[in-house]
Amino acid sequence: MTARPILHNAFCDFLGVEYPILLAGMGVGGRATPPRLVAAVSQAGGAGILGCSGLSPEETRKRIREVRALTDRPFGVDLLLPARIADAPDTRSGVREEIRRRYPEHAAFVKTLLRRFDLPEVLPENETVVNVEYAKRVIEVVLEERVPIFASGLGDPEFLAPRARAQGMKLIGLSGSVRNAVRQRKSGVDAIVAQGTEAGGHTGTVASLPLIPQVVDAVSPTPVIAAGGIGDGRGIVAALALGAQAAWLGTAFLVADECEIFDASKQQIVAADSESFRVSKVWTGKTVRAFHSEISQAWAESGLPTLDTPYQRILMEDLLAAALAAGRHDLFYNIAGQVGGMLKTRRPAKDIMADLVDGAIDELRRLQRDVRISLAP
Ligand SMILES: Cc1cc2nc3c(=O)[nH]c(=O)nc-3n(C[C@H](O)[C@H](O)[C@H](O)COP(=O)(O)O)c2cc1C
Repeated sequence: MTARPILHNAFCDFLGVEYPILLAGMGVGGRATPPRLVAAVSQAGGAGILGCSGLSPEETRKRIREVRALTDRPFGVDLLLPARIADAPDTRSGVREEIRRRYPEHAAFVKTLLRRFDLPEVLPENETVVNVEYAKRVIEVVLEERVPIFASGLGDPEFLAPRARAQGMKLIGLSGSVRNAVRQRKSGVDAIVAQGTEAGGHTGTVASLPLIPQVVDAVSPTPVIAAGGIGDGRGIVAALALGAQAAWLGTAFLVADECEIFDASKQQIVAADSESFRVSKVWTGKTVRAFHSEISQAWAESGLPTLDTPYQRILMEDLLAAALAAGRHDLFYNIAGQVGGMLKTRRPAKDIMADLVDGAIDELRRLQRDVRISLAP
């Protein structure tokens, strides 16, 4: 058996992993980070994070147990803790009815697209509207299952910090700005993901290169994990050079064989360039970076104002359900970041991990060889 390469720091010891690489927890109805992908990343020496946002408490528990059946290495769960949700009805049909009444132009926008793409009027079966109470029930499951790492996307994990700490769970908070990172630190998280605007998913406005060192300075000595636009070993080294202790990668793993986003979505990513991944509020009412599709183009041209969460999301989910029913996966919401432009091959997660580690080591060697420094006398 050949020895595994070494790329290791104190933060790896803290998480109990070999490499300073984490698979970002990605929601998308459980398709983006299924247990198989999470376990593969953990088995390969990183930390796999299960994206459970939008999943039921029962489904979350099932997935946590599936990961445990596949690996005994550390892994985590990520949830979007909704910070603010409009005072909306708590069923999908209730929200839909209100959209028809209060926002007829938005309802008409979806109808026009159904006709334009010749899509059937199929509605999502699930009536659940994710609200703060619902998210808290899922968190109970994560605590009961004693998951080693918990990451909170949007919102504040402060309320669960004491219980998490008491059972040895490591807490990670995501942030896209210095201000938010400082808030996360005050909530008592163990590490902070500083996510640049390049990232796929909900994203802020500051790019990784200026954001990461500023967050490192602002929250020191809390460890920072760099995110947004990292796609190969050079990106990992850049993250470490900016003062981060580890890298958090989402988009790079969307092309993994174990990832269960639609085949059409994977193909869109490998065929795209970085400009194809744009920020729009069409999908959830918040700024999300995703593949710029005919739907996001139509939204941009419509000039309609964005509805608050959850109205905008439920409006669009009706359209997406229709696209799915018609097999038009190319119209589906394909969340991915700018780094999608450099992903040209689909392969197993363990090969992606091996390339990230080997690439980072090669890059560190190249720097050692090519960059001459002299110490002050
Ligand atoms: C498909 C997709 C879904 C995502 N879903 C979530 C989520 O549910 N929760 C979350 O905290 N972050 C989510 N994110 C953001 C990631 O956690 C991560 O910060 C981001 O992918 C890093 O940038 P990168 O895509 O350039 O690697 C998602 C990202 C993608 C690409």
